[in-house]
Amino acid sequence: MTICDDVKYVGVNDHEIDLFESQFKVPDGMSYNSYVILDDKIAVMDSVDENFGEQWLENIKNVLKNDAGGRIPDYLVVHHMEMDHSANIKKFMENYPDAKIVASKMAFSIMKNLFGTDFTENQIVVAEGSVLELGKHTLEFIAAPNVHWPEVVFSYDKTSKILFSADAFGKFGALDVQDDNWDDEARRYYFGIVGKFGNFVQQVLKKLSNVNITTICPLHGPVLTENLEHYIKLYDTWSSYQPESEGVLIAYTSVYGHTRQAVEKLAQILIDKGCQKVFTVDLARNEMSKCVEDAFRYDKLVLATTTYAGDIFPFMKEFILQLTERNFQNRKIALIENGSWVPNAAKVITSLFEKSKDITFTPSKVTIKTAMNDETVKLLENLADEILA
Ligand code: FEO
Repeated sequence: MTICDDVKYVGVNDHEIDLFESQFKVPDGMSYNSYVILDDKIAVMDSVDENFGEQWLENIKNVLKNDAGGRIPDYLVVHHMEMDHSANIKKFMENYPDAKIVASKMAFSIMKNLFGTDFTENQIVVAEGSVLELGKHTLEFIAAPNVHWPEVVFSYDKTSKILFSADAFGKFGALDVQDDNWDDEARRYYFGIVGKFGNFVQQVLKKLSNVNITTICPLHGPVLTENLEHYIKLYDTWSSYQPESEGVLIAYTSVYGHTRQAVEKLAQILIDKGCQKVFTVDLARNEMSKCVEDAFRYDKLVLATTTYAGDIFPFMKEFILQLTERNFQNRKIALIENGSWVPNAAKVITSLFEKSKDITFTPSKVTIKTAMNDETVKLLENLADEILA
């Protein structure tokens, strides 16, 4: 794949993987992107996952043979040291021992932990504002701490106006799987991987706001070449914790179906009252990262769960922990609790959000004692009004 005349794709697709970062389901696989800039000096941009080292080196070799007369790389630029991008640095250096590694200071210390060497003789340390001249192409480095790890740098090729954005603007899914909808798997990826670090994403977006970017080359997912405002605007919305859309997500757990009946009733009431977007999700039976992504996507959240062992049902607890550790904020939340003797779930949930910013709970909650009755329906009607108020 050619990104532009002098910039080629040498990444790989992973269809073997079951869980990305050992936690996120990736039914369409994953791509680990790597690029080569061909100039007076040749720069390889990042490595790939451990299982694909041979294929990646072969891709590099083929590009160099076909497009660079068999020359060898001068630089390996390391934007991010997480192992899905760094695992083959050592292998690369065994193949190209005279190449220089271009990375942040912290990246070299992580390299030492990973490989037992920080390649002292081959280091070029870069930080905010550093420049690497390749010939026609000039790379400028932009510190991007915590997008996703603290050592991350982006680089901007002033000549081709390409931003090499590390994990930012990445998505789940291999590149040989057709997916015309970037937003959903990019959103799930963003909130899963980077969601906690919104403030850091905001800082780097500010730095990029005056940079003329025509192409974004992330470390996962497709190279972005058109309508870049769309992707940048989504990143601004997500990282500032603003809802992307109006809508109500009702996330629930139900042991014997009674809480689910209340959820279905509330969903119907909301629809009858004119709410266009109501979504219900059973937290025990759906991919958690998808539920988390949807909670951040919409402006209203209903949590419905049982009191369980004096606490709340485990899948609900896990869901709330995943939200709060990602700085869930700036949303309206309504609660439905169920309990057969001492319903306690609403109290537990409220305490779990105690440290979250700008969470507004509806004035009322709905308490079910084991099963719904006529009174429950009236309470749900009232709750719907408060959700939509
Ligand atoms: Fe794709 Fe944070 O590594």
